[in-house]
Amino acid sequence: MSLTDPNQEALLVARGLRKSFGDNEVLRGIDLTLHRGEVVVLIGPSGSGKTTVLRALNGLETPDAGTIVVAGGPEIDFAPEVKPSPRLQKQKRLALRDRSAMVFQHHNLFPHLTVLENVIEGPWRVQGRPKDEVVVDALALLDRVGLADKADARPHQLSGGQQQRVGIVRALALRPDVLLFDEPTSALDPELVGEVLLVIKELADEGWTMAVVTHELSFAREAADHVLFLDGGVIVEQGPPADLFRAPTHERTQRFLTRIMRPLDGA
Ligand SMILES: Nc1ncnc2c1ncn2[C@@H]1O[C@H](COP(=O)(O)OP(=O)(O)OP(=O)(O)O)[C@@H](O)[C@H]1O
Ligand SMILES: [Mg+2]
Repeated sequence: MSLTDPNQEALLVARGLRKSFGDNEVLRGIDLTLHRGEVVVLIGPSGSGKTTVLRALNGLETPDAGTIVVAGGPEIDFAPEVKPSPRLQKQKRLALRDRSAMVFQHHNLFPHLTVLENVIEGPWRVQGRPKDEVVVDALALLDRVGLADKADARPHQLSGGQQQRVGIVRALALRPDVLLFDEPTSALDPELVGEVLLVIKELADEGWTMAVVTHELSFAREAADHVLFLDGGVIVEQGPPADLFRAPTHERTQRFLTRIMRPLDGA
């Protein structure tokens, strides 16, 4: 697959996303395209805007400017020319919510609900799909990630890796067009990272379209079609992982990669 393949359908197209928090301009014109079945990995230093990009795509954050189109839906235009009402902005964001599902660094499972109840909460209560259908779906998805026997367990009875796999199932159960992962393994003990990355890699191989913020470079090398390097709210450099990791052209990218590839330096 290549980004320049004209036959590949663009499933998500974001153009010119801008976002400020007070005086802090966090996104300064982000363009991002996800083709169907494509895996895009976002890397960049802390504070560069990676999470804010995903939150904007998922409708959790309202950009100050820019447009987003997902899966042939309407173009959501955040243009600032008309002072928008909060209601209109909310409508725009909500139009994006169902299109993608986000997996967070911390799984955010409800502690008082069972694993199954956590998974069906979104599709049943929020999306309003029939409970029977949603339960069947959820059990099949739990089985898929090796957690069929944990359906009735509470989150605290699971390991961190298992909890994060439930987090992934919860996202899949929403039947989104696009999966968004925000550092899905960075809160895990090192020995649990592999099992979660394996699930994500399998989903990628199955053809899910996804954007993944991660600093697991071996995962990015294997799974990503395209890597974006963000710094200071702009995409400084992008390309296939083999090119970007082997021969980054920008000094900032080089510096960043050197730093994260040698985490023990100076320790
Ligand atoms: N709700 C908010 N209110 C104010 N500032 C925010 C908010 N969310 C993010 N920021 C600021 O926006 C900038 C970008 O944050 P963001 O979380 O997108 O960075 P990041 O690249 O994901 O960083 P990290 O690698 O640490 O997760 C930071 O300076 C952050 O402090
Ligand atoms: Mg972040």
